[in-house]
Amino acid sequence: MSAVRATAARDDPADAGETVDALLQAAVAAHRDGDAATATAHYERALAHDPGQPDALHFLGVMRHQAGDSEAAIALIARALVRAPRHADIHNNLGNIHKEWGDAVAAEACYRRALTFQPGHFTAVGNLAVALEMQGRLDDAFRAYGLLLTVAPSYAHGYHLLGLFLRNHARDPEHGRQAAACLRRAWELDPDNLRALAALGNVLYLLGEHDAARQVYRDWLLRDPESPLARHMLAACGGAEAPARAGDAYVRSLFDSFADSFDEQLLQHLDYRAPQLLADALGAALGGRRDLDILDAGCGTGLCAALLRPWARRLDGVDLSPGMLARARRRGGYDALVEGELTAHLEAHPGAFDVVASADTLVYFGDLRRVCAAAHAALRAHGWFGFSVEALEAGAATADGIELGPSGRYRHTRAHLETALLAAGFGDQRIAPRDLRNESGAPVHGWVAVARRGAG
Ligand SMILES: C[S@@+](CC[C@H](N)C(=O)[O-])C[C@H]1O[C@@H](n2cnc3c(N)ncnc32)[C@H](O)[C@@H]1O
Repeated sequence: MSAVRATAARDDPADAGETVDALLQAAVAAHRDGDAATATAHYERALAHDPGQPDALHFLGVMRHQAGDSEAAIALIARALVRAPRHADIHNNLGNIHKEWGDAVAAEACYRRALTFQPGHFTAVGNLAVALEMQGRLDDAFRAYGLLLTVAPSYAHGYHLLGLFLRNHARDPEHGRQAAACLRRAWELDPDNLRALAALGNVLYLLGEHDAARQVYRDWLLRDPESPLARHMLAACGGAEAPARAGDAYVRSLFDSFADSFDEQLLQHLDYRAPQLLADALGAALGGRRDLDILDAGCGTGLCAALLRPWARRLDGVDLSPGMLARARRRGGYDALVEGELTAHLEAHPGAFDVVASADTLVYFGDLRRVCAAAHAALRAHGWFGFSVEALEAGAATADGIELGPSGRYRHTRAHLETALLAAGFGDQRIAPRDLRNESGAPVHGWVAVARRGAG
């Protein structure tokens, strides 16, 4: 959403001496401070004075969307446009709501309207590019990203977006090199944008420029020696020893910064299939059961909730990232959402669940033996543990069947899964090769495993 910035306010005398202008200023200040209750109350009072006040309607709409009620948001913003039909920010934010809902066509129309009224509105140009990319109109999107950098040549986020676009749709190494140049520029323009740096290291590694990739992370550590992201990624590029699993601080920092764009990135750009594939595998095992206590371990933004819910009497989620949990809370579908490390959570709840499901989360674990043992202990007799991980082909395998890859995620051999599950006590195992998502235009091969605890 674009910044909360009131552009028009009317000085209305009010019953208690308050003016619409003053109410709007107080609302915007509270909105910026994250005080939703106060902001809402002020916007609503402003609307009591002037029911068509476009800023109040617009920002209240943004707040409703942020609180998860996008239908109310769209209705409020439509009312704002009655009095301010040429207000580019309002069209842009309406586009963002459609975009976040996955309606790229409606979003595109909004961004184009914003640009009709304000051709130099560069955030609308960037959003238009993303909406075109979501529709698979890659040539149009590429032109829009080009336009963005013409309109706003110093816009760090524009370079970041174009860098990701080139990386995600790279058809040859030249695209990779262009992606690296854009991501480097994004970081130079905005040194706080560490996600651009992480993506830069990743692109360099994929280009085979391993020394340059390691140098990116070393430079980063010079600026911020405690950075969990840089430490983890340096290990992922072979520049330090791999930890037994991704550290809690790394996971939190990565996913908190990723939370707002996770669904869009994964579903729209990377054809993310892990939740559905895991649900298919669990469905085959669970049949028509509807009375199960289920834990979504590493629930993220809650993409698994709707898939697991039909089998659940109770559905809990646990995750390390408050940002991801906030999205899951907004999405709904859980009986409880807990902030915590999933192994510790499993170990603290012996015999508590009929199903432990973990989609695309154990890719942040190296050795799977402890988490498999914890899942086994947390299950009741005949309970099911289902998870997806990325595949390490046997031919490329390390001695222990685990590898921390340049993406920052671990890969595992089928043999490592079998051994870890067996050691935990899971005799009944079903492990299938599946493509979990796309990355850099190629499928990411993985394993979808379901394993059953015995009677004991
Ligand atoms: C790629 S996301 C997948 C989220 C969700 N399962 C899905 O499929 O959409 C991985 C999630 O696992 C969480 N995570 C990673 N390691 C974790 C750990 N040790 N304990 C709890 N959560 C963890 C991250 O915070 C992130 O939300």
